[in-house]
Amino acid sequence: MNTITIRRPDDWHVHLRDGDVLTGVTPYTARVFGRAIVMPNLVPPVTTAAMADDYRRRIMAAVPAGSGFTPLMTCYLTDSTSPVDVADGHAAGIFTAAKLYPAGATTNSASGVTAIRNIYPVLEVMQRIGMVLCVHGEVTDPEIDIFDREAVFIDRVLAPLLRDMPGLRVVMEHATTSQAVQFVEGAGDNIAATITPQHLHINRNAMLVGGIRPHAYCLPVAKREEHRQALRRAATGGSGKFFLGTDSAPHAKHMKESGCGCAGIFNAPHALESYLTVFDQEDALDRFERFASLAGPAFYRLPVNEGTITLVRSEQPVPQVLDAAGTTIVPFHAGETIGWKILSMN
Ligand code: NCD
Ligand code: ZN
Ligand code: ZN
Repeated sequence: MNTITIRRPDDWHVHLRDGDVLTGVTPYTARVFGRAIVMPNLVPPVTTAAMADDYRRRIMAAVPAGSGFTPLMTCYLTDSTSPVDVADGHAAGIFTAAKLYPAGATTNSASGVTAIRNIYPVLEVMQRIGMVLCVHGEVTDPEIDIFDREAVFIDRVLAPLLRDMPGLRVVMEHATTSQAVQFVEGAGDNIAATITPQHLHINRNAMLVGGIRPHAYCLPVAKREEHRQALRRAATGGSGKFFLGTDSAPHAKHMKESGCGCAGIFNAPHALESYLTVFDQEDALDRFERFASLAGPAFYRLPVNEGTITLVRSEQPVPQVLDAAGTTIVPFHAGETIGWKILSMN
């Protein structure tokens, strides 16, 4: 098979940032994806429906005309989030989902939730109205090794939460471990996970062997090879519980190449081709559409996109750096050649 045509895909986890960078990076996502769940970890974070509505307008101003792209907004949960604002924002069509960042877990998460109990009133309302909770699933306890933080989050936070609220609809964002895969597979239909391209391509060696490589650093950090293999089986296995969420997270080159480099990988420019390469390697091209274009809408209870996209087997060099409206950013796969390319969209 040298070409593949699928329904237009969606990105169920992306960081579009703000200001000039927003203008620079949004076209990469809007070109390919019909919709995207836009993460709210701006400075200051998008914590209210009014702020999300404003942010949506700024995004739309950065979307190239005619791309037919719709941003789906999320609410950044804090210890003092109002359940009424979340429910009203959802009813008004402003919020598609709400995002749980444990305080201090990742980029711009300082205002996140300090204890899950603090947001139980919000989560109870979300359970009642069927609103999706997107989760950055890592504990922040300094005693817990960074490579164990996702697995410990499942045991200490997520499993007890779902015992208390069995009907809550949860997406474990950017799953990185076999424990996450097993948990999602063993849970009800209300639990799903997104998987990034980088966690399908790289294990922790990519970050640490032969020198420290800041452009392979994101959170949750890539784990051992056995975990990458579990993620590849989950993504390509056709279950429908795992779907595309790039976690494209642009940071300026100089902010990553630093004594304390930022977490995040900018994969938007070639995300779809990157995922497709994995499905090709796993001999699972027939399952690609489900992962990229069908399973996410089914979970979010949205229609699939109308259009289609066709990719062709063809060598595509990835540049070393890209310019995002004045900010130099190193993309995922920089300097490599990807074996697939977007041919057309209808
Ligand atoms: C994200 C960012 O830079 O906003 N970084 C990352 O490493 N994934 C935050 C996040 O998704 O945790
Ligand atoms: Zn995250
Ligand atoms: Zn993210």
